[in-house]
Amino acid sequence: MIDRIVNPSAENEESRDIELEVTLRPRDFSSYIGQERLKKNIKLAIDAAKKRGEPLDHVLLHGPPGLGKTTMASVIANEMNAQIRITSGPAVERAGDLASLLTNLQDGDILFIDEIHRLNRSVEEVLYSAMEDFKLDIMLGKGPSARSLRLDLPKFTIIGATTKTGSLAAPLRDRFGIIHRLDFYSPEEIQQIIQRAAKILNVKIDKLAAAELARRARLTPRVANRLLKRVRDYADVNGDGIIDTALSHRALKLLDIDELGLDAADRSLLAAIIENYSGGPVGVETLAAITAEERGTIEDFYEPYLMQVGLLERTPRGRKATSKAYRHMGKNPPRSETTRTGQSSLL
Ligand SMILES: Nc1ncnc2c1ncn2[C@@H]1O[C@H](COP(=O)(O)OP(=O)(O)O)[C@@H](O)[C@H]1O
Ligand SMILES: [Mg+2]
Repeated sequence: MIDRIVNPSAENEESRDIELEVTLRPRDFSSYIGQERLKKNIKLAIDAAKKRGEPLDHVLLHGPPGLGKTTMASVIANEMNAQIRITSGPAVERAGDLASLLTNLQDGDILFIDEIHRLNRSVEEVLYSAMEDFKLDIMLGKGPSARSLRLDLPKFTIIGATTKTGSLAAPLRDRFGIIHRLDFYSPEEIQQIIQRAAKILNVKIDKLAAAELARRARLTPRVANRLLKRVRDYADVNGDGIIDTALSHRALKLLDIDELGLDAADRSLLAAIIENYSGGPVGVETLAAITAEERGTIEDFYEPYLMQVGLLERTPRGRKATSKAYRHMGKNPPRSETTRTGQSSLL
């Protein structure tokens, strides 16, 4: 994957950025900005669980990377006064790995499984009865002498996170009592996130500059925090450490991030659709080839944001550049395009 500031996934994150994430991660509902509907639902479920003296229902959080899924899991643990153990789909290779994780939990604990869509089938099957009845079915021995054994498990809560709900098996999905999609944030919320982060990091940024960064942060908290950090670096070297609009413009120009938060890779993707494929439709495999990225990266990372801001349209025959995309790239949209995608260009 190409190293990009605007890439909201945490993979290949530099260690200083991981540190930054931990420092900036909200610990409770009051510092978790936005996602009001999610917070309301979870708060209600937490209150109800506490009242009944039961563990919280299993929670599935899905949505593009960098929107606050891992953060929400730790906020929930904090609000439940629960211990949280963290693992991920690819890390739990065999059913035995899951069995040992589950048997080591205590009543009320939370097991956070990141990238839960990447669990393999045999592990997933163990999870079914564990989630439903707090029982663990294990097979002892092999062949004719094999016996199955049913163990009681502590009353725990699974919080699963995924960028791809579509690829989660229905029986697993059905075992979550609370399923919630995280949406992109509003520019105002992103601005608040930037101002909160600036306070914590002791960075001086004026309101207009914060709003400017917010417009270019792909409506994504992780990107917002990263932009703030890069612009602060720029301010420390090229200014007096204070971030105002003029300085943030210069820094963003240097970082090659435009008014919609697109970088060179996004723009070359749009340019290729417009120039080589007359605006599309283009198959996702072709886009992957153009950008030298994996199909999953295109689907999980490029597309959600480009669609959110109305630059890209997904049709049954492939991806199309909208008239807004043409204008953003300094081109005249084709005639029929203007009327057909007129609606999305209002976004
Ligand atoms: N609602 C929020 N309010 C403030 N900061 C947030 C919020 N959501 C996420 N962040 C910031 O963005 C970073 C990335 O969030 P994270 O939970 O790791 O995203 P995900 O797990 O969805 O990829 C966090 O470290 C945190 O600093
Ligand atoms: Mg995460």
